[in-house]
Amino acid sequence: MKRSAFCLTFVLLAVGLVANCVKIELENLPERCDFRKCTAPDPKRLNVHLIPHSHDDVGWLKSVDQYFYGSRSNIQKAGVQYTIDSVIEELIRDKDRRFIQVETAFFWMWWQEQGEEQRSIVRELVKSGQLEFIGGGWSMNDEATTTYLSTIDQMTWGHRRLVDTFGRCAVPKVAWQLDPFGHSKEMAALFAGMGFDALFFARQDYQDIAQRVKTNTLEHMWQASEELGTRGDLLTGMMKDHYGPLPGLRWDLVDNDDDPIVDNTDSEEYNLVRFLETFEKNANAYAVGYPTRNILIPMGEDFQYMAAHPFYKNMDKLIHWMAHSTKFKVFYSTPSCYAKALSDAANVTFASKTDDFFPYASDPHSYWTGYFTSRAALKLQERVGASILQTGKIVEVLSKPPHTFKRQLIALKEEMGIMQHHDAVAGTEKQHVSDDYSKRLTKAVSGVQQGIAQALRVLYNGTAVGGTFCPQLNASSCPITETAANFTVTLINPLAMELANQTVRFPVKEGVRYTVTDLATPSAKIPFAVVDIPEPVQKLAERKGGKSKVELVVRLPLIPPLSLVNLAVQEVVGKQEVSQKKTSAANAVLKGRHMSVHFDDKGAISKVTLADGTTSVSFKNEFHFYKGIEDRARNSGAYIFRPAEQKPTPAAHVVEATLHGTAEFTEVHQTFSVDWISQVVRLVPSVDGTEDVLEFEWIVGPIPVAVDHIGKELVTRYVTDLNSGNRFKTDANARQLLTRQVDFRPSWKLEVTEPVSGNYYPVNSMIVLEDAQKKLSMAVLVDRSQGGTSMAPGVAELMLHRRLLHDDGKGVGEPLSEPGVDGRGLVVRGRHQVVIAPT
Ligand SMILES: *[C@@H]1O[C@H](CO)[C@@H](O)[C@H](O)[C@H]1NC(C)=O
Ligand SMILES: *[C@@H]1O[C@H](CO)[C@@H](O)[C@H](O)[C@H]1NC(C)=O
Ligand SMILES: *[C@@H]1O[C@H](CO)[C@@H](O)[C@H](O)[C@H]1NC(C)=O
Ligand SMILES: *[C@@H]1O[C@H](CO)[C@@H](O)[C@H](O)[C@H]1NC(C)=O
Ligand SMILES: *[C@@H]1O[C@H](CO)[C@@H](O)[C@H](O)[C@H]1NC(C)=O
Ligand SMILES: [Zn+2]
Repeated sequence: MKRSAFCLTFVLLAVGLVANCVKIELENLPERCDFRKCTAPDPKRLNVHLIPHSHDDVGWLKSVDQYFYGSRSNIQKAGVQYTIDSVIEELIRDKDRRFIQVETAFFWMWWQEQGEEQRSIVRELVKSGQLEFIGGGWSMNDEATTTYLSTIDQMTWGHRRLVDTFGRCAVPKVAWQLDPFGHSKEMAALFAGMGFDALFFARQDYQDIAQRVKTNTLEHMWQASEELGTRGDLLTGMMKDHYGPLPGLRWDLVDNDDDPIVDNTDSEEYNLVRFLETFEKNANAYAVGYPTRNILIPMGEDFQYMAAHPFYKNMDKLIHWMAHSTKFKVFYSTPSCYAKALSDAANVTFASKTDDFFPYASDPHSYWTGYFTSRAALKLQERVGASILQTGKIVEVLSKPPHTFKRQLIALKEEMGIMQHHDAVAGTEKQHVSDDYSKRLTKAVSGVQQGIAQALRVLYNGTAVGGTFCPQLNASSCPITETAANFTVTLINPLAMELANQTVRFPVKEGVRYTVTDLATPSAKIPFAVVDIPEPVQKLAERKGGKSKVELVVRLPLIPPLSLVNLAVQEVVGKQEVSQKKTSAANAVLKGRHMSVHFDDKGAISKVTLADGTTSVSFKNEFHFYKGIEDRARNSGAYIFRPAEQKPTPAAHVVEATLHGTAEFTEVHQTFSVDWISQVVRLVPSVDGTEDVLEFEWIVGPIPVAVDHIGKELVTRYVTDLNSGNRFKTDANARQLLTRQVDFRPSWKLEVTEPVSGNYYPVNSMIVLEDAQKKLSMAVLVDRSQGGTSMAPGVAELMLHRRLLHDDGKGVGEPLSEPGVDGRGLVVRGRHQVVIAPT
């Protein structure tokens, strides 16, 4: 049995390293990669770059495979295989035509089904620049709910495939993030680090667009990293009207119904003159707000070009009839040609920007901040996948894995690439698609786990090491440890830093006495205790056969970076040291080496004191829920967080709290006034062992909706007397920390229309509050991405779980109400770690 010590993979420590690798890989492209033959813009005319593209979600309303093959047309008419087939035909017909392919996952599925003849045609099209890869990640990753590590992995993997298949010159030079619901500064910094020349996207705040139109700054230089300086700068362009064509140019046969251009003067349908007039008017209107004499017109929307001919035929005509215009130059282009046109534009200096594009509002009551939390279980599963992938990569280096391992690792890389998609980890897909993602990821993870186990068996010469993983430890379930007398536990540290004093826990038999030793140094004493498994955990539906009532908590010896320890757990004669049972935690104090936690007479936390003896912080933990609004104009849903009332409703209070464990491993089990919230509170050492961390392990759900028919969005609050004013910090993709200020945007004057939702930000690793006077800070570390804010000084708020009864009208067409394991509604167990420390 084995498990990886991944708990803090995403703290900001294991950072720079990975980003640099990518840079090395993409740097030093051969001089002559500019075969992307670009039509030169004319500085005297308005240059209209027509960019044929299809936005192909790697799963959303349909699963990945359904989208690729075109199944389930009743849900959506979309089959990416037809798009690629059809586009290739059209490109062959005319050398001027262009197309960009963005999502490598789909391209790869297609490529694998092609014969040599078709492949060589495609190679030629790539070489000539007619078919250009843009973005080129395995998917178009979400930017709010992803970590730097997984996005780098998925970009690397997409590009790796392109390099191996088409050579280095096929590596995209432009990032293309049309659809993610808000844009992250760290992503821009990573894109700059990957060697991209520019980034283009749609979807930015409606208030932001309005002021950028006035100041001609829809294109600008994003200074995305203080750390990287100018190397983190990225030319950034926004599409002000979504990512589709100008009105009148929507010629997709399957999806749209704009009229073709009829240039036969004898025909009753003749429309050329009127068409061109309208086109010129629309192009001029679109150009307002763009700083150069170039505009990028995306020719395509979601899943288009399945029948590519009508689109191209009409674009050909448009170009033909505009050829002699003195005011416009209209031509086929690509994002990289467009980026070149921008950087070549004479006399234009681009404005700069240093903040990010969160949160994103598409209208006064549509703040896209709900998806920061939507599908809490899938968001955790993605993190677990990342940790197993990381561990797998290390085991591959450290040992001689079986030859099948490479394949298993690739399968997981690809599944994780899919998970990064902006409707996957984002939680904005339909339920059946979410189930499909989960199933695929489970399969890929278990493949790598088997490979890791096999590799360890070889490494340890077939001794006891290298059994099976226990993926359900988060439900305190593991068949082996719950039944075996003697077993070995292997813990792998996949981080580039040592782990000190970490604890692990696994369920064991009740009433049995155990010893725990380190196989490498059997004489060293390993501290451990037997602790009761909280009843709400025992009742989890997903625990199935698990019957253990107690778990072993073990304090691990130091694990050096990138290495592992093996613990022997043995049943010995004697009686189990009994955990202190059900002592009331009223007025109790949990004492750590650096911090003490005080409970009030109900067993709720009242304050925290630091080891210096003088610093004391008043501290409360509260659960509240926002009522999801029901409004025909805009409901709260998978994307949108729109509470009916700005002040949340208290969800529950502590009714009983009991102490469990031993003096060294004490924890407080809290029961609440409702049965769908419970929590364990304990002090644990921080990763490096130097600090105490206050850990909250909550179980929430099923969120009740049957009685009052009101959707609810549950938050936890850590309420302190720290004076953090109206500011707080949240991470960007678990890397940079950005300063946030309530009701404020650094780059425009905010009109507040959604007081709470408009102050929500994505939290992937932590939210931080600082008291400058007391020189104290509080950081709350999360185990998956969640939405968070600080609406009042000293109060950190994180959204844990959402269950809603209405669709928010943004496309998914389903209310976000997950059934969970038993159909009663999703139950989520998760963890926050609160660090209070001098700054
Ligand atoms: C750029 O500015 C210079 C100096 O003002 C001017 O001479 C030149 O014509 C400008 N170029 C363009 C393309 O506008
Ligand atoms: C496995 O066997 C090899 C060769 O006999 C030996 O060098 C190595 O130390 C052994 N490894 C372990 C972990 O026992
Ligand atoms: C477990 O290990 C102990 C100590 O080495 C040993 O006495 C006992 O026989 C083992 N039990 C089983 C079932 O192997
Ligand atoms: C780990 O814990 C022990 C005992 O509490 C302590 O002596 C030691 O200093 C800790 N290690 C680190 C790195 O803080
Ligand atoms: C346990 O983790 C898995 C992902 O590994 C997740 O799907 C599941 O929902 C989690 N269980 C609970 C109770 O949170
Ligand atoms: Zn999309």
